[in-house]
Amino acid sequence: MFNLILFGPPGSGKGTQSEKLIARYGLKHLSTGDLLRSEIAAQTPLGLAAKSIMDKGQLVPDEVVIEMINSALENNPSARGFLFDGFPRTTAQAEALDKLLSQKGTEIALVLALQVSKDELVARLLNRGKTSGRSDDTNEAVISSRIEEYEKKTAVVGEYYNKFSKLVKIKGEGTIDEIFDALCSEIDAKSAA
Ligand code: AP5
Ligand code: MG
Repeated sequence: MFNLILFGPPGSGKGTQSEKLIARYGLKHLSTGDLLRSEIAAQTPLGLAAKSIMDKGQLVPDEVVIEMINSALENNPSARGFLFDGFPRTTAQAEALDKLLSQKGTEIALVLALQVSKDELVARLLNRGKTSGRSDDTNEAVISSRIEEYEKKTAVVGEYYNKFSKLVKIKGEGTIDEIFDALCSEIDAKSAA
């Protein structure tokens, strides 16, 4: 199995690059943001509870997303590997993920961290907000909260994986194809090692 984390702040291009990476490498894409938005669309109790938190730009509780990832891992027993997007977002989530993967006899191979300036993040998200229908994209104060949550709670997850020499920083500004090529080079180097 080859398990990859695509890491980075809101708007850094995780979703965009994930689509291309899963097509090239045949990984199963697990985005906790997408899973939560499906719960909201289906108006489940979990979705309704998560919506008010997401609309403020805050993180939903660790237990909720860890359980969603646990179920997704259980439901995909024949996956050749997973691409985690937007998860883990706290050290507790990272520790829980390591545990879940080790129970399956596997681990995270690589964490690719997209580096994008704050001004560019805000510009991208406001621009996407014109068409995405995502309520957390339309208001600059909510976008700022999402970036603050990242800085306060999520950036440490990069340091967590850096301790295990799994973190590689990638320039996240430039064309989508340039960034994709840089990501692929790291994956190819790692899977050949
Ligand atoms: P989530 O859905 O994960 O959103 P996010 O991390 O805030 O990031 P985005 O999905 O907005 O950005 P992205 O990095 O995927 O960039 P994208 O490719 O779309 O989370 C939403 C909420 O759910 C959270 O706030 C939280 O409440 C909750 N949540 C989710 N996971 C959680 C967890 N694990 N724990 C707790 N809570 C959780 O690109 C953005 C835009 O830029 C697009 O318009 C794209 O077209 C454009 N773009 C992409 N690449 C480029 C480029 N190279 N140049 C120019 N534009 C580009
Ligand atoms: Mg995304």
